[in-house]
Amino acid sequence: MDTQPFWLDTPGGGFEAFPPPGDDLSVDVLVIGGGITGVTAAWLLAREGRSVALVERETLGARDTGHTTAHLTYMTDTRLSDLVATFSRQEAQLAWQAGAAAMELIRENVESLAIGCALKRVPGFLVAAESADRGEERAVLQVESEMAHQFGFDVRFEESGPVTGRPCIRFAGQMEFHPLKYLRALAAAAVKAGARIFENCEVTAFEEDPLLVHAGGHVIRYKKVVIATHVPLQGMAGTLGAAAFQTKLAPYSTYAVAARIPADLPLQDMIWSDTADPFLYLRLGGTGDQRMAILGGEDHKTGVVVETEDIYRRLERQMARMIPLAEITHRWSGQVIETVDGLPFIGPTHEAQFIATGFSGNGMTFGSAAAMMARDWVLGRKNPWEDLFDPGRRSLSSFKEYVKENSGYPLRMIRDRLQVRAGDPEDLARGEARVMEYGCHRIAAFRDDEGELHVCSAVCPHLGCIVAWNQAESTWDCPCHGSRFTAGGAVIAGPAETDLEKVETRAVEAAKG
Ligand SMILES: Cc1cc2nc3c(=O)[nH]c(=O)nc-3n(C[C@H](O)[C@H](O)[C@H](O)COP(=O)(O)OP(=O)(O)OC[C@H]3O[C@@H](n4cnc5c(N)ncnc54)[C@H](O)[C@@H]3O)c2cc1C
Ligand code: FES
Repeated sequence: MDTQPFWLDTPGGGFEAFPPPGDDLSVDVLVIGGGITGVTAAWLLAREGRSVALVERETLGARDTGHTTAHLTYMTDTRLSDLVATFSRQEAQLAWQAGAAAMELIRENVESLAIGCALKRVPGFLVAAESADRGEERAVLQVESEMAHQFGFDVRFEESGPVTGRPCIRFAGQMEFHPLKYLRALAAAAVKAGARIFENCEVTAFEEDPLLVHAGGHVIRYKKVVIATHVPLQGMAGTLGAAAFQTKLAPYSTYAVAARIPADLPLQDMIWSDTADPFLYLRLGGTGDQRMAILGGEDHKTGVVVETEDIYRRLERQMARMIPLAEITHRWSGQVIETVDGLPFIGPTHEAQFIATGFSGNGMTFGSAAAMMARDWVLGRKNPWEDLFDPGRRSLSSFKEYVKENSGYPLRMIRDRLQVRAGDPEDLARGEARVMEYGCHRIAAFRDDEGELHVCSAVCPHLGCIVAWNQAESTWDCPCHGSRFTAGGAVIAGPAETDLEKVETRAVEAAKG
């Protein structure tokens, strides 16, 4: 299936290449991960005069920052009233203030560095779902709107919102931009300020005494490390600590389709989402001469086998209903990381190690806020959000969510293992992928369009669950904690930190003699 994010397919969406390190090096701060969190942190720290190295396993923006829809809003995916119930009024307000401060940082960066990334102020709308009872949803949105207003945000309730005509909350002064053009310019500014960036440079091991990582065939020594890998690497957390932390995260796959829309469409540019579960999110705006609509939704837990063609068809039909003249140009999917209490985990997990994860669908803002917090942590400054987002926090009211998100494991591990049927990878047709029992292995086998067979173990190296084929992205995804691997088995998203083990077929073994 041809899936490419719109951003990777626009002129100027590409990047200057940053080769891997040619030698060992030593820095004040090592940043791991080249998405919005890592690049923003590298830029902020280099600007403060710290020596910084950023290492990225693939290329900058290759993962979720390149797969986003880039609504810039302080409105969290978790409803404000739910945050108040789980935390407190002050903390819910503070979470939204963090988002607003991140939006301001992005605006300042775009202005001071003259970044051409089509940043635009637009209104945001949270609209009652069409499937919901109009009266009930109106009442809920009125309460939410009143609460947000009391917290000092510029919002108002409206009886009839855009696109579907349902009751809504209107948020003034939200924003949208081209995330990769922003990222590219910020990376260039970081380099200009002295940061060193290395792509195709994977961190494969940590050592504590002295503090160093092995990355790209070299050793990088550091005083502090910022792990900005979306799902954190284990680093210095210890296996048990990392496994326990992982149970507080739940990776979800989410899907998007982009379309060209007529320039004279009588709908203003905006960001829009509804109150369904999973919710739909829509963005109207241009990134040049062309007006675009991007519609997303259909979230489900990563690794669950779904008919992805059906998902895209549903989104495309929905787009046609909302904007009749929309002409679909792109479709893609990616991951959002949910947490058990609805707020991200950002902060130190060791005296020399800082993590940032669990942004849900707010990673443009929370990722930028995390970078500000990482800067303050390195500089020894107090940050207003450090207690709220503390990765070690406990929240009793999130226990129900904890049980919901973790009830599948280890039952799933056992059930999926038992369900694997015997087969021969040689029987696969072009484009076909299957998990099967083969000799003494459970294998994940895929035959590509050129006829080449890719065979590896189907057992996830994180905690042993059986991976499942993701038809939308041609990846192997793990249903237990969301690790993802290429069709050939290379790890592209944690918590797994190593590839699926290679398995040789009988034909390959025979050819070797
Ligand atoms: C379809 C979709 C729509 C979304 N819409 C929105 C939206 O409208 N607004 C919003 O705010 N957010 C949205 N999000 C969420 C947002 O895109 C993400 O939360 C955000 O991009 C995460 O950024 P990040 O820098 O933390 O992680 P990433 O962009 O995933 O970057 C992490 C990087 O770490 C690298 N890495 C991993 N392991 C290693 C290693 N061992 N060594 C070196 N490098 C490593 C990876 O290769 C990757 O490039 C959306 C996400 C998706 C998928
Ligand atoms: S077993 Fe945990 S991600 Fe696969």
